[in-house]
Amino acid sequence: MPSTSAPGQQQQALTPPVPAPSPSAVTVSTTSSDGTSATSISTTPPEPLILTANPPDSHVLVIKLNRPRVLNALSTALVDLLLSALKSADADPDIGAIVITGNEKAFAAGADIKELASLSFPSIYIQDYLRGVSEGIPSFKKPVIAAVNGHALGGGFELALACDTIFASTNAQFGLPEVKLGTIPGAGGTQRLVRAIGKAKAMHMILTGDTMSSTEALNAGLIAKVYPPEQLLDAAINADSLAKTMASYSRPIVAMAKEAVLQADQLSLSDGIRLERSLYYSTFTTADFTEGTTAFLQKRTPSWKNA
Ligand code: CAA
Repeated sequence: MPSTSAPGQQQQALTPPVPAPSPSAVTVSTTSSDGTSATSISTTPPEPLILTANPPDSHVLVIKLNRPRVLNALSTALVDLLLSALKSADADPDIGAIVITGNEKAFAAGADIKELASLSFPSIYIQDYLRGVSEGIPSFKKPVIAAVNGHALGGGFELALACDTIFASTNAQFGLPEVKLGTIPGAGGTQRLVRAIGKAKAMHMILTGDTMSSTEALNAGLIAKVYPPEQLLDAAINADSLAKTMASYSRPIVAMAKEAVLQADQLSLSDGIRLERSLYYSTFTTADFTEGTTAFLQKRTPSWKNA
Protein backbone atom coordinates (compact mmCIF):
# COMPACT_ATOMS: atom_id res chain seq x y z
CA MET A 1 0.00 0.00 0.00
CA PRO A 2 1.36 3.44 -0.81
CA SER A 3 2.52 5.69 2.00
CA THR A 4 -0.20 7.52 3.91
CA SER A 5 2.17 10.41 4.58
CA ALA A 6 3.29 13.36 2.53
CA PRO A 7 6.85 13.19 1.22
CA GLY A 8 9.10 14.07 4.11
CA GLN A 9 6.44 13.38 6.72
CA GLN A 10 6.74 10.62 9.23
CA GLN A 11 4.94 7.54 7.92
CA GLN A 12 2.14 6.10 10.06
CA ALA A 13 1.07 2.49 10.02
CA LEU A 14 -2.55 1.50 9.45
CA THR A 15 -4.03 -0.04 12.55
CA PRO A 16 -7.33 -1.66 13.45
CA PRO A 17 -9.66 0.93 15.07
CA VAL A 18 -10.16 -1.56 17.91
CA PRO A 19 -6.90 -3.32 18.85
CA ALA A 20 -6.85 -6.94 17.63
CA PRO A 21 -6.92 -9.48 20.45
CA SER A 22 -3.59 -11.09 21.26
CA PRO A 23 -3.15 -14.61 19.83
CA SER A 24 -3.35 -16.28 23.24
CA ALA A 25 -6.69 -14.56 23.95
CA VAL A 26 -8.55 -15.71 20.86
CA THR A 27 -11.31 -18.21 21.47
CA VAL A 28 -13.12 -19.75 18.50
CA SER A 29 -16.60 -21.21 19.06
CA THR A 30 -18.25 -23.30 16.36
CA THR A 31 -21.72 -24.78 16.19
CA SER A 32 -22.25 -27.69 13.80
CA SER A 33 -25.45 -28.41 11.87
CA ASP A 34 -26.58 -30.99 14.48
CA GLY A 35 -26.46 -28.25 17.14
CA THR A 36 -23.36 -29.42 18.96
CA SER A 37 -20.86 -26.72 19.71
CA ALA A 38 -17.15 -26.76 20.27
CA THR A 39 -14.72 -24.19 21.59
CA SER A 40 -11.08 -24.10 20.70
CA ILE A 41 -8.17 -21.77 21.31
CA SER A 42 -6.65 -20.36 18.15
CA THR A 43 -3.15 -18.88 17.98
CA THR A 44 -4.07 -16.81 14.90
CA PRO A 45 -6.03 -13.67 15.74
CA PRO A 46 -8.85 -12.83 13.32
CA GLU A 47 -7.75 -10.33 10.71
CA PRO A 48 -9.22 -6.86 11.33
CA LEU A 49 -11.83 -6.10 8.67
CA ILE A 50 -10.78 -2.49 8.43
CA LEU A 51 -7.57 -0.64 9.22
CA THR A 52 -7.30 3.06 9.96
CA ALA A 53 -4.54 5.66 9.89
CA ASN A 54 -4.38 9.35 10.68
CA PRO A 55 -1.30 10.70 8.85
CA PRO A 56 0.44 13.36 10.98
CA ASP A 57 -0.77 16.95 10.45
CA SER A 58 -3.26 15.90 7.78
CA HIS A 59 -6.55 15.95 9.77
CA VAL A 60 -7.52 13.10 7.43
CA LEU A 61 -8.63 9.63 8.52
CA VAL A 62 -7.77 6.82 6.10
CA ILE A 63 -9.98 3.73 6.34
CA LYS A 64 -8.67 0.70 4.49
CA LEU A 65 -11.04 -2.16 3.72
CA ASN A 66 -9.16 -5.29 4.69
CA ARG A 67 -10.52 -8.59 3.39
CA PRO A 68 -7.86 -9.11 0.72
CA ARG A 69 -8.54 -12.84 0.27
CA VAL A 70 -12.06 -12.10 -1.00
CA LEU A 71 -11.24 -8.84 -2.80
CA ASN A 72 -12.70 -6.82 0.10
CA ALA A 73 -16.17 -8.29 -0.37
CA LEU A 74 -18.54 -6.29 1.81
CA SER A 75 -19.78 -8.55 4.57
CA THR A 76 -22.33 -7.14 7.01
CA ALA A 77 -19.64 -7.17 9.71
CA LEU A 78 -17.27 -5.13 7.55
CA VAL A 79 -19.97 -2.60 6.63
CA ASP A 80 -20.93 -2.22 10.30
CA LEU A 81 -17.30 -1.52 11.26
CA LEU A 82 -16.89 0.90 8.37
CA LEU A 83 -20.00 2.86 9.38
CA SER A 84 -18.93 2.91 12.99
CA ALA A 85 -15.45 4.23 12.02
CA LEU A 86 -17.09 6.90 9.84
CA LYS A 87 -19.41 7.91 12.66
CA SER A 88 -16.49 8.29 15.08
CA ALA A 89 -14.50 10.30 12.52
CA ASP A 90 -17.48 12.55 11.83
CA ALA A 91 -17.65 13.37 15.55
CA ASP A 92 -13.87 13.77 15.97
CA PRO A 93 -12.83 17.45 15.99
CA ASP A 94 -9.33 16.54 14.82
CA ILE A 95 -10.62 14.95 11.58
CA GLY A 96 -11.68 17.11 8.65
CA ALA A 97 -11.97 14.55 5.83
CA ILE A 98 -12.06 10.79 5.40
CA VAL A 99 -10.55 8.61 2.67
CA ILE A 100 -11.88 5.08 2.13
CA THR A 101 -9.60 2.78 0.17
CA GLY A 102 -8.90 -0.89 -0.53
CA ASN A 103 -5.77 -2.61 -1.79
CA GLU A 104 -3.99 -2.67 -5.15
CA LYS A 105 -6.30 -5.41 -6.49
CA ALA A 106 -9.67 -4.31 -5.22
CA PHE A 107 -11.46 -1.40 -3.65
CA ALA A 108 -14.31 -3.87 -3.06
CA ALA A 109 -15.68 -6.56 -5.37
CA GLY A 110 -19.24 -6.12 -4.12
CA ALA A 111 -21.44 -7.50 -1.42
CA ASP A 112 -20.13 -10.76 0.01
CA ILE A 113 -21.76 -13.27 -2.35
CA LYS A 114 -21.30 -16.13 0.14
CA GLU A 115 -23.28 -14.13 2.68
CA LEU A 116 -25.82 -13.01 0.03
CA ALA A 117 -26.55 -16.60 -0.85
CA SER A 118 -27.54 -17.31 2.76
CA LEU A 119 -29.90 -14.34 3.13
CA SER A 120 -33.66 -14.38 2.78
CA PHE A 121 -36.10 -11.62 1.89
CA PRO A 122 -37.55 -11.30 5.42
CA SER A 123 -34.11 -11.03 7.02
CA ILE A 124 -32.74 -8.38 4.66
CA TYR A 125 -36.01 -6.46 4.81
CA ILE A 126 -36.02 -6.42 8.61
CA GLN A 127 -32.32 -5.54 8.96
CA ASP A 128 -32.38 -2.89 6.16
CA TYR A 129 -29.51 -4.71 4.49
CA LEU A 130 -26.95 -2.27 2.97
CA ARG A 131 -29.03 0.79 3.80
CA GLY A 132 -26.04 2.08 5.74
CA VAL A 133 -24.08 2.17 2.47
CA SER A 134 -26.74 3.78 0.31
CA GLU A 135 -28.10 6.27 2.84
CA GLY A 136 -25.72 6.29 5.82
CA ILE A 137 -22.55 7.39 4.08
CA PRO A 138 -23.97 10.55 2.48
CA SER A 139 -25.41 11.54 5.87
CA PHE A 140 -21.98 12.28 7.34
CA LYS A 141 -21.06 15.96 7.53
CA LYS A 142 -17.39 15.64 6.62
CA PRO A 143 -16.15 14.95 3.09
CA VAL A 144 -15.79 11.21 2.40
CA ILE A 145 -13.54 10.31 -0.53
CA ALA A 146 -13.23 6.94 -2.23
CA ALA A 147 -9.70 6.14 -3.42
CA VAL A 148 -10.24 3.25 -5.83
CA ASN A 149 -7.58 0.80 -7.00
CA GLY A 150 -8.61 -2.31 -8.93
CA HIS A 151 -12.15 -3.71 -8.80
CA ALA A 152 -15.03 -1.51 -7.61
CA LEU A 153 -17.94 -3.80 -8.40
CA GLY A 154 -21.53 -4.14 -7.25
CA GLY A 155 -21.86 -2.94 -3.67
CA GLY A 156 -18.18 -1.85 -3.82
CA PHE A 157 -18.95 0.52 -6.68
CA GLU A 158 -22.10 1.64 -4.87
CA LEU A 159 -20.01 2.40 -1.80
CA ALA A 160 -17.73 4.58 -3.94
CA LEU A 161 -20.78 6.25 -5.53
CA ALA A 162 -22.17 7.04 -2.06
CA CYS A 163 -18.94 8.87 -1.19
CA ASP A 164 -18.64 12.58 -1.95
CA THR A 165 -16.06 12.13 -4.69
CA ILE A 166 -13.99 9.37 -6.24
CA PHE A 167 -10.27 9.34 -7.02
CA ALA A 168 -9.08 6.30 -8.89
CA SER A 169 -5.92 4.68 -10.15
CA THR A 170 -5.23 3.81 -13.76
CA ASN A 171 -6.04 0.16 -12.97
CA ALA A 172 -9.50 0.79 -11.49
CA GLN A 173 -12.50 -1.00 -12.97
CA PHE A 174 -16.06 0.05 -12.14
CA GLY A 175 -19.10 -2.12 -12.72
CA LEU A 176 -22.51 -3.27 -11.50
CA PRO A 177 -22.50 -6.99 -12.37
CA GLU A 178 -25.52 -7.92 -10.19
CA VAL A 179 -27.53 -8.95 -13.26
CA LYS A 180 -25.08 -11.84 -13.70
CA LEU A 181 -26.05 -13.10 -10.24
CA GLY A 182 -29.77 -12.88 -10.83
CA THR A 183 -30.25 -9.68 -8.86
CA ILE A 184 -29.99 -5.92 -9.31
CA PRO A 185 -27.89 -3.23 -7.62
CA GLY A 186 -29.36 -2.63 -4.17
CA ALA A 187 -27.15 -0.04 -2.48
CA GLY A 188 -27.99 3.03 -4.55
CA GLY A 189 -26.32 2.02 -7.84
CA THR A 190 -29.29 2.36 -10.20
CA GLN A 191 -30.04 5.86 -8.91
CA ARG A 192 -26.57 7.31 -8.40
CA LEU A 193 -25.03 5.94 -11.59
CA VAL A 194 -27.77 7.49 -13.74
CA ARG A 195 -27.21 10.82 -12.04
CA ALA A 196 -23.42 10.50 -12.39
CA ILE A 197 -23.09 9.46 -16.04
CA GLY A 198 -26.58 9.69 -17.58
CA LYS A 199 -29.23 7.11 -18.44
CA ALA A 200 -27.75 5.62 -21.61
CA LYS A 201 -24.36 4.69 -20.14
CA ALA A 202 -25.82 3.64 -16.78
CA MET A 203 -28.45 1.45 -18.43
CA HIS A 204 -25.78 -0.17 -20.57
CA MET A 205 -23.59 -0.98 -17.56
CA ILE A 206 -26.46 -2.24 -15.39
CA LEU A 207 -28.12 -4.41 -18.04
CA THR A 208 -24.87 -5.97 -19.31
CA GLY A 209 -22.67 -6.01 -16.19
CA ASP A 210 -19.89 -4.52 -18.34
CA THR A 211 -17.14 -2.65 -16.51
CA MET A 212 -15.78 0.82 -17.14
CA SER A 213 -12.06 1.73 -16.96
CA SER A 214 -10.83 4.75 -15.04
CA THR A 215 -10.13 6.59 -18.30
CA GLU A 216 -13.76 6.07 -19.42
CA ALA A 217 -14.95 6.96 -15.91
CA LEU A 218 -12.95 10.20 -15.92
CA ASN A 219 -14.33 11.15 -19.34
CA ALA A 220 -17.87 10.33 -18.19
CA GLY A 221 -17.54 12.60 -15.13
CA LEU A 222 -17.89 9.67 -12.74
CA ILE A 223 -14.56 10.25 -11.01
CA ALA A 224 -12.58 13.39 -10.22
CA LYS A 225 -8.93 12.39 -10.70
CA VAL A 226 -6.77 9.48 -11.89
CA TYR A 227 -3.30 8.58 -10.61
CA PRO A 228 -0.81 5.73 -11.07
CA PRO A 229 -1.73 2.96 -8.58
CA GLU A 230 1.31 3.49 -6.36
CA GLN A 231 0.55 7.21 -6.01
CA LEU A 232 -3.21 7.01 -5.49
CA LEU A 233 -3.50 7.03 -1.71
CA ASP A 234 -0.80 9.59 -1.12
CA ALA A 235 -2.40 11.81 -3.77
CA ALA A 236 -5.88 11.35 -2.31
CA ILE A 237 -4.59 12.63 1.02
CA ASN A 238 -1.91 15.14 0.17
CA ALA A 239 -2.10 16.44 -3.37
CA ASP A 240 -3.55 19.88 -4.03
CA SER A 241 -7.34 20.05 -3.76
CA LEU A 242 -7.71 16.61 -2.17
CA ALA A 243 -8.56 15.38 1.34
CA LYS A 244 -5.95 17.36 3.24
CA THR A 245 -7.02 20.57 1.53
CA MET A 246 -10.71 19.91 2.28
CA ALA A 247 -9.73 19.19 5.90
CA SER A 248 -7.84 22.50 6.12
CA TYR A 249 -10.94 24.68 5.63
CA SER A 250 -13.65 25.63 8.11
CA ARG A 251 -15.59 22.49 9.13
CA PRO A 252 -19.07 24.08 9.20
CA ILE A 253 -18.49 25.83 5.86
CA VAL A 254 -17.30 22.61 4.18
CA ALA A 255 -20.32 20.78 5.64
CA MET A 256 -22.71 23.43 4.26
CA ALA A 257 -21.09 23.27 0.82
CA LYS A 258 -21.39 19.47 0.88
CA GLU A 259 -25.05 19.63 1.89
CA ALA A 260 -25.85 22.06 -0.92
CA VAL A 261 -24.16 19.85 -3.55
CA LEU A 262 -25.80 16.64 -2.29
CA GLN A 263 -29.22 18.25 -2.42
CA ALA A 264 -28.79 18.92 -6.14
CA ASP A 265 -29.86 15.30 -6.73
CA GLN A 266 -32.94 15.65 -4.54
CA LEU A 267 -34.47 19.02 -5.32
CA SER A 268 -35.86 20.89 -8.29
CA LEU A 269 -33.54 23.59 -9.62
CA SER A 270 -35.54 26.38 -8.00
CA ASP A 271 -35.72 24.58 -4.63
CA GLY A 272 -32.01 23.77 -4.86
CA ILE A 273 -31.11 27.38 -5.58
CA ARG A 274 -33.30 28.48 -2.68
CA LEU A 275 -31.53 26.03 -0.34
CA GLU A 276 -28.15 27.17 -1.63
CA ARG A 277 -29.04 30.82 -1.04
CA SER A 278 -30.22 30.10 2.48
CA LEU A 279 -27.02 28.17 3.29
CA TYR A 280 -24.96 30.91 1.65
CA TYR A 281 -26.66 33.58 3.76
CA SER A 282 -26.07 31.39 6.83
CA THR A 283 -22.32 31.45 6.23
CA PHE A 284 -22.44 35.20 6.89
CA THR A 285 -23.39 34.45 10.51
CA THR A 286 -20.26 32.42 11.14
CA ALA A 287 -17.00 33.52 12.72
CA ASP A 288 -15.25 31.81 9.83
CA PHE A 289 -16.89 34.07 7.24
CA THR A 290 -15.56 37.08 9.18
CA GLU A 291 -12.16 35.41 9.50
CA GLY A 292 -11.94 34.33 5.84
CA THR A 293 -12.86 37.73 4.40
CA THR A 294 -10.74 39.63 6.95
CA ALA A 295 -7.72 37.38 6.30
CA PHE A 296 -8.07 37.97 2.55
CA LEU A 297 -8.14 41.75 3.00
CA GLN A 298 -5.19 41.62 5.43
CA LYS A 299 -3.27 39.39 2.98
CA ARG A 300 -2.76 36.63 5.55
CA THR A 301 -3.73 32.97 5.92
CA PRO A 302 -7.07 32.50 7.72
CA SER A 303 -7.09 30.85 11.09
CA TRP A 304 -10.40 28.98 11.07
CA LYS A 305 -12.44 28.90 14.27
CA ASN A 306 -14.81 26.17 13.06
CA ALA A 307 -17.57 28.35 14.35
N1 CAA B 1 -18.13 -11.96 -2.53
C1 CAA B 1 -17.47 -12.99 -1.98
N2 CAA B 1 -16.29 -13.46 -2.44
C2 CAA B 1 -15.75 -12.84 -3.49
C3 CAA B 1 -16.37 -11.76 -4.12
C4 CAA B 1 -17.61 -11.31 -3.61
N3 CAA B 1 -18.27 -10.25 -4.10
N4 CAA B 1 -15.59 -11.37 -5.16
C5 CAA B 1 -14.52 -12.16 -5.16
N5 CAA B 1 -14.61 -13.06 -4.15
C6 CAA B 1 -13.65 -14.12 -3.79
C7 CAA B 1 -13.65 -15.24 -4.80
O1 CAA B 1 -14.70 -16.15 -4.54
C8 CAA B 1 -12.28 -15.81 -4.58
O2 CAA B 1 -12.32 -16.62 -3.42
P1 CAA B 1 -11.62 -18.07 -3.43
O3 CAA B 1 -10.16 -17.76 -3.62
O4 CAA B 1 -11.96 -18.63 -2.09
O5 CAA B 1 -12.20 -18.80 -4.59
C9 CAA B 1 -11.42 -14.60 -4.25
O6 CAA B 1 -12.33 -13.57 -3.86
C10 CAA B 1 -10.63 -14.09 -5.43
O7 CAA B 1 -11.54 -13.89 -6.50
P2 CAA B 1 -11.31 -14.51 -7.96
O8 CAA B 1 -10.50 -15.76 -7.89
O9 CAA B 1 -12.64 -14.59 -8.62
O10 CAA B 1 -10.39 -13.36 -8.61
P3 CAA B 1 -10.27 -12.98 -10.14
O11 CAA B 1 -9.16 -11.99 -10.21
O12 CAA B 1 -10.20 -14.19 -10.98
O13 CAA B 1 -11.66 -12.27 -10.50
C11 CAA B 1 -13.46 -10.70 -10.11
C12 CAA B 1 -11.96 -11.01 -9.92
C13 CAA B 1 -13.75 -10.46 -11.60
C14 CAA B 1 -13.72 -9.42 -9.33
C15 CAA B 1 -14.34 -11.85 -9.59
O14 CAA B 1 -13.89 -12.20 -8.30
C16 CAA B 1 -15.80 -11.52 -9.50
O15 CAA B 1 -16.48 -11.52 -10.49
N6 CAA B 1 -16.28 -11.26 -8.26
C17 CAA B 1 -17.70 -11.01 -8.03
C18 CAA B 1 -18.09 -9.61 -8.44
C19 CAA B 1 -19.58 -9.41 -8.25
O16 CAA B 1 -20.40 -10.09 -8.83
N7 CAA B 1 -19.94 -8.40 -7.41
C20 CAA B 1 -21.32 -8.10 -7.13
C21 CAA B 1 -21.74 -8.76 -5.85
S1 CAA B 1 -23.47 -8.63 -5.55
C22 CAA B 1 -23.68 -7.08 -4.92
O17 CAA B 1 -22.75 -6.32 -4.72
C23 CAA B 1 -25.10 -6.73 -4.62
C24 CAA B 1 -25.36 -5.31 -4.34
O18 CAA B 1 -25.83 -4.54 -5.16
C25 CAA B 1 -25.14 -4.75 -3.06
